[in-house]
Amino acid sequence: MKALALLLSCLLWGSLAKPKFPEEEKNPSFWNAWAQRTLKDALTLQVLNRNIAKNLILFLGDGMGVPTVTAARILKGQLNGCYGEEVQLEMDKFPYVALAKTYNTDAQVADSAGTATAYLCGVKANEGTVGVSAAAVRGQCNTTQGNEVTSILKWAKDAGKSVGIVTTTRVNHATPSAAYAHCVDRDWYSDGEMPPEAVQAGCKDIARQLMENIPNINVIMGGGRKYMLPENTSDVEYPSTRGTRKDGRNLIEEWVDRTKDKRGYYVWNKKDLLSINPSSVDYLMGLFEPGDLPYDLERNTSMDPSLTEMVEVAVKILKNNPEGFYLLVEGGRIDHGHHEGKAKQALHEAVEMDRAIGHAGLLTSPHDTLTVVTADHSHVFDFGGYTRRGNSIFGLAPMVSDVDQKPFTAILYGNGPGFKLVNGSRVNVSTVDYQQNNYQAQAAVPLRMETHGGEDVAVFSRGPMAHLLHGVQEQNYIPHVMAYAACIGQNKDHCQKGNSAVRSSALAPPTLGLVITVTWLLC
Ligand SMILES: *[C@@H]1O[C@H](CO)[C@@H](O)[C@H](O)[C@H]1NC(C)=O
Ligand SMILES: *[C@@H]1O[C@H](CO)[C@@H](O)[C@H](O)[C@H]1NC(C)=O
Ligand SMILES: *[C@@H]1O[C@H](CO)[C@@H](O)[C@H](O)[C@H]1NC(C)=O
Ligand SMILES: *[C@@H]1O[C@H](CO)[C@@H](O)[C@H](O)[C@H]1NC(C)=O
Ligand SMILES: *[C@@H]1O[C@H](CO)[C@@H](O)[C@H](O)[C@H]1NC(C)=O
Ligand SMILES: [Zn+2]
Repeated sequence: MKALALLLSCLLWGSLAKPKFPEEEKNPSFWNAWAQRTLKDALTLQVLNRNIAKNLILFLGDGMGVPTVTAARILKGQLNGCYGEEVQLEMDKFPYVALAKTYNTDAQVADSAGTATAYLCGVKANEGTVGVSAAAVRGQCNTTQGNEVTSILKWAKDAGKSVGIVTTTRVNHATPSAAYAHCVDRDWYSDGEMPPEAVQAGCKDIARQLMENIPNINVIMGGGRKYMLPENTSDVEYPSTRGTRKDGRNLIEEWVDRTKDKRGYYVWNKKDLLSINPSSVDYLMGLFEPGDLPYDLERNTSMDPSLTEMVEVAVKILKNNPEGFYLLVEGGRIDHGHHEGKAKQALHEAVEMDRAIGHAGLLTSPHDTLTVVTADHSHVFDFGGYTRRGNSIFGLAPMVSDVDQKPFTAILYGNGPGFKLVNGSRVNVSTVDYQQNNYQAQAAVPLRMETHGGEDVAVFSRGPMAHLLHGVQEQNYIPHVMAYAACIGQNKDHCQKGNSAVRSSALAPPTLGLVITVTWLLC
């Protein structure tokens, strides 16, 4: 009934020129019944899930601050014909939420490298550095040795689990690289990007470390082919693009040689990815572009897989291991959309990551899988302006500025490339197409690249020991909880005694939660 009513109200919305709130919301019993269902679900959470997590999944939305989560929720609803505000993202369905403080040891407003070291290695670090402690100095090769810190991906591998990395950026970009590399500069993708002195001093580029540090990562998917290929070698898809490696190594060939007798497959396009049978694959490297993957809105859907398609294959391969797995999934281009001031690109990337979260949920169970969804840092992105219920998330505020008498979009940036003056004053946005994919929302301060934001980010969690992720925490706490839940890493005291007793406290999935899920799915 509820679902049908909602669906009808969504359809109605599409036909209304001026959105208004759904009729049923005028009735107190609508809100009371909804809140009571939610309360009933909350009461079931008093039985904590203290199972041992066989599997761990971390979804990292790069730059996915809380304003981005809210705006992505509204976008997702509106893409499904709803008003938007009332729907639930997949991550919204997770029972526990914490806030994480994102600052780097040397920065109030963080970057993706120092934060990746925090939520993967459990140690806060300096900006621009990956897999090294704060004793290492960005760009100074000689501060690497002795300051390496290892990641939860390695702890999981050492414990016999399968491990994987899936990203929409280069696989050697800041976020994934902290899972396997120790590098004082996040930009040292290959030796071609390194200062010659650093190469001579023995520092290794990130692509090389992907092959050498943890040589049997089971699943590697994303972009970044050019950093794996020698300078004189052409890219398979874009012949005019060449490799960047100066050491002459072809790391893709090396990987293929190393894994060909071990059920290993290398793929570089969607068709080959989807043609593999995950149950007969133990190692997969999928590199779909020379650099980052395209934005989901611009993706050639016959050549490049979506994040959801990659995650689906990854989980199926990793599940082959009876010991379980650790998977890092990055929605890496939410951040890029924001840096370019292109909110529509950023939000569609966030919606796509949310879809991937939903698919991973269908392939795993909260009984034995701890799933965490978070961001590394926020952006100076926000939306406001007293917009009406159901207003297009990319639309205008309902009034004009009472200072310059011009309209403005709800979405605005604190700084970035969207700052523009025409004849000395702010552009009248009604004269431009502010709904187009690459529209750059107005910004208060002109910058070629919009900056990160410094406020806390949300941490959503579901599964064994998810309740330990609550309150306001330092970001480096996250892998400590995930490792504890899986009985890997440094704190295994609780794992020795009475595993079976621990396991037996498993709680049944709340059935009401399912009803609500179905309701919103229809929306
Ligand atoms: C490390 O290298 C820097 C230059 O990058 C130099 O200034 C410094 O003296 C070196 N430190 C040591 C201990 O060698
Ligand atoms: C690239 O250069 C290396 C070393 O100079 C050489 O052995 C190799 O054949 C070259 N490859 C191509 C495709 O030209
Ligand atoms: C996608 O890529 C294929 C192969 O390069 C090409 O034939 C096709 O035209 C592309 N499609 C779009 C929509 O660009
Ligand atoms: C802004 O542009 C719209 C559409 O062209 C126009 O109707 C409106 O008068 C303009 N407002 C100002 C203040 O220039
Ligand atoms: C800017 O000013 C010039 C000169 O007054 C005028 O011709 C032009 O149309 C103005 N441009 C806009 C976008 O208002
Ligand atoms: Zn960024």
